[in-house]
Amino acid sequence: MLKKARLFALGASRPLGEKSAALLGSALSAHEERRFEDGEHKFRPIDPVRGADVFVIHSLFADAAATANDKLCELLFFLGAVRDAGAARVSAIAPYLAYGRKDRRTNPQDPLTARYVAQLLEAMVIDAVVTIDAHNLSAFENAFRRPVLHLEARVQMAERLAPRLGAAPVVVASPDPGGVKRAQLFRETLEKTLGRPVEFALLEKRRAGGVVSGDLMAGNVGGADVLIVDDLISTGGTMARAARAFRGAGANRVFSVATHGLFVGDACAALADSAIEKTFITDTIAPYRLTDAVIKDRLEIVSAAPLIAGAIRALCCDEQCR
Ligand code: R5P
Repeated sequence: MLKKARLFALGASRPLGEKSAALLGSALSAHEERRFEDGEHKFRPIDPVRGADVFVIHSLFADAAATANDKLCELLFFLGAVRDAGAARVSAIAPYLAYGRKDRRTNPQDPLTARYVAQLLEAMVIDAVVTIDAHNLSAFENAFRRPVLHLEARVQMAERLAPRLGAAPVVVASPDPGGVKRAQLFRETLEKTLGRPVEFALLEKRRAGGVVSGDLMAGNVGGADVLIVDDLISTGGTMARAARAFRGAGANRVFSVATHGLFVGDACAALADSAIEKTFITDTIAPYRLTDAVIKDRLEIVSAAPLIAGAIRALCCDEQCR
């Protein structure tokens, strides 16, 4: 059991928090959540936090109970409350950090929302921020002046995928130029896990006025099992489009692999696309928008709890964490 540390998990992040706490041989600390009729809320720690090393898990995805903006406010105010209540150290753990995609200006006078989120979190006088597979690692690291810990799910993903891959050649692919570095790192990890060569492929993707185009492809996927790697799946359009392109180029099977599954819009249809064998995702976001049939037949969920438990161990001043 953790002695001087307190681990809280807010809202829909509770199941992930419980799994992470169990891996630390502990349990979540108690807190209260009240949502008022006018949309305001009050969350507060119930277990005492004075002098404690406090970790607050809140994955900032929209769900039926709260929008991403609601959750950002819930997290901010909870961090403020534990700091005011005398916590010695406060770390924010946002497995999915909302607004990560708004990391640069694409139009004049655009907001840099990813940086503003960082400024809001830092205004609560936090000691560290933890996230998993940020959309843009440099933007995430540069947005904060406090220490950040960036976790990556690629080892867990590679270990889950390896037994599904047969004798066919394996290719890791990026569905767009922006994801090349991420996919290349995953390729290296998978190569180590499998103990055999893994090739690389890339598909062109351009977005103009909301329309996606581009069909240039690099790499040879003929007869191969192709793993398309991305940080997140939103509508699933990027994955379905790339899967069809790689199948059209002769791929044997195509798997889609991403850390965060937002699954909005037509995501159910995209995941059920016959070009995609299966989709691998982590539990940073609950797949509540998908049908049970899609979850059962088309989805494999890899838990991010070991990553979170590892981060808490790394940051924790409590010798019981180690
Ligand atoms: C974009 O740069 C991201 O990495 C994802 O590729 C994108 O957000 C996926 O969106 P969708 O699933 O709607 O195609």
